Amino acid sequence: MKKLEILAAGIVLFIGGTQLGIAADGKEIFESTCGACHKRGLLGSPKFGDKDKWAELAKKGKDALAESAIKGKGKMPAQPRTPEEIKAAVEYMLKAAE
Ligand code: HEC
Repeated sequence: MKKLEILAAGIVLFIGGTQLGIAADGKEIFESTCGACHKRGLLGSPKFGDKDKWAELAKKGKDALAESAIKGKGKMPAQPRTPEEIKAAVEYMLKAAE
């Protein structure tokens, strides 16, 4: 029983670690999930690379911005990514407009 528990914990850690590895790549997540709207400013979304717009948004803080994409906001539906992945994508978008 004990051994099984240790094994189970190991598997959970392994899967968790793998997801974090993917989450680090904000560019990949942006390209595959966010770019469809944000590259062109579709539906009134803040456009990728728009310095004024993102400087304004940055004041809200990274976490609040990620929260909007996690839960959805206005015409942006809740994004089908883990919170860690969404945070990585938000960081990528903020950096690109610095
Ligand atoms: C279907 C189009 C669409 C997709 C896909 C999309 N967004 Fe958005 N996004 C929008 C729109 C529209 C807004 C403006 C929402 C508003 O302020 O009403 C927005 C706003 C935002 C904001 C500003 C939120 C705020 O609090 O003002 C962030 C950050 C953001 N998106 C990040 C992301 C990330 C990260 C992804 C990918 C994981 C993503 N978006 C995917 C349409 C999209």
